[in-house]
Amino acid sequence: MSDAKSCAPGCDRKALERAFDIADNPESLAKPVRTREIVVGRADEIPVGGRKIVQIDRLSIGVFHLADGFHAIRNYCPHQGAELCKGSVHATHRPGPTGEFTPGLEGRVLRCPWHGWEFDIVTGKGLYDARSRVSVYEVKTNEAGELVVLV
Ligand code: FES
Repeated sequence: MSDAKSCAPGCDRKALERAFDIADNPESLAKPVRTREIVVGRADEIPVGGRKIVQIDRLSIGVFHLADGFHAIRNYCPHQGAELCKGSVHATHRPGPTGEFTPGLEGRVLRCPWHGWEFDIVTGKGLYDARSRVSVYEVKTNEAGELVVLV
């Protein structure tokens, strides 16, 4: 008997559902308190859909300009350490009945360039492993139009 609620072949349904749960309710994630403000460039140098990879001490971070604003995520894949932020950005599909494809997380899924693990840029949550997550950082724009990342 087949499961009427399967997702794509190879998909970890539990992980995908967890990623969407967090995307729908990001307050459910415990967030570390970060107070160090670092200017990483000007907001107008990154167009919507663009990104900039910055180095802050030993920490490499990707700053992405998504449709809803700026987001920052650690440039390190928890699988085998690839530069995650050099991967492609796209969407995924929400879990649903077999044969039904409902787009989700459009423009905010980052795919690792090495082996294709995917992460939600906004929450850092992995889409294929319910336990995986990459650190994300708050990004603000100051009065001078500069991007400020809290680390
Ligand atoms: S190093 Fe990122 S998926 Fe393998």
